[in-house]
Amino acid sequence: MAKQSIIETVDITKVYGMGDISVAALAGVSIQIYSGEFVAIMGPSGSGKSTLLHILGCLSRPTKGKYILDGENVSHLDKRQLASIRNRKLGFIFQSYNLLPRTSALGNVTLPLLYDRNQEHKMDEMEEKALVMLELVGLADRTHHQPQELSGGQQQRVAIARALVNDPVMIIADEPTGNLDSNSGEEIMALLHKLHKNGVTIVMVTHDPEIAAHTQRIILLRDGLVEQVVKNGKKKRRR
Ligand SMILES: Nc1ncnc2c1ncn2[C@@H]1O[C@H](COP(=O)(O)OP(=O)(O)OP(=O)(O)O)[C@@H](O)[C@H]1O
Ligand SMILES: [Mg+2]
Repeated sequence: MAKQSIIETVDITKVYGMGDISVAALAGVSIQIYSGEFVAIMGPSGSGKSTLLHILGCLSRPTKGKYILDGENVSHLDKRQLASIRNRKLGFIFQSYNLLPRTSALGNVTLPLLYDRNQEHKMDEMEEKALVMLELVGLADRTHHQPQELSGGQQQRVAIARALVNDPVMIIADEPTGNLDSNSGEEIMALLHKLHKNGVTIVMVTHDPEIAAHTQRIILLRDGLVEQVVKNGKKKRRR
């Protein structure tokens, strides 16, 4: 069966500022990411990783070029349309978890369903869905804990449950292990592997080569361009 693209970018550029002080953060990036892939984006500081991830996550638009997400050209959508795409199609995991304080794990995971204007969800159905996700990430016994009552690794698992609750076509992760010690980081990577095995597409920015080694492909950026694409871990995948 032909591999299906979840992401296709054609010659994307991103220019910040104007005139003499403009910065070309992306200088023409063409990439494809396939359904079910686990991909890392790496590169030196300032190479454009976050800029690219923001565009892929529909948090900003390219200056020029085409971005097709899940078969839909999203290059020219306005802010409101991009927000709707994010809510329907994407799940986000950030380095700093971004959970609502003084809100239970269950409340945090339910949030994207509350924001979903395209569907009417009943409260008990939403909580049931959120509970399933918390079970999936191993936190069934922490549903009523607030973020400040959870460890960093547990908070990130709540964030992952929240990212999954809308059945996204893709998870966007910006340095998901960046704030964690190596043990908690490994736990989070094990969880991402599990999701990947279940068919979830994951695109992740990381500085850490050991973390990137968990993925199938590494897209290496330099000066706003794709310098190299490296295939990973064939041995692991053949099992
Ligand atoms: N909002 C902005 N306004 C102006 N310039 C920006 C803006 N955001 C990023 N840049 C510039 O664009 C370039 C790429 O930045 P980006 O944040 O994408 O890099 P990065 O690869 O994520 O770096 P890091 O590893 O340090 O997070 C940098 O030169 C940066 O200074
Ligand atoms: Mg960055």
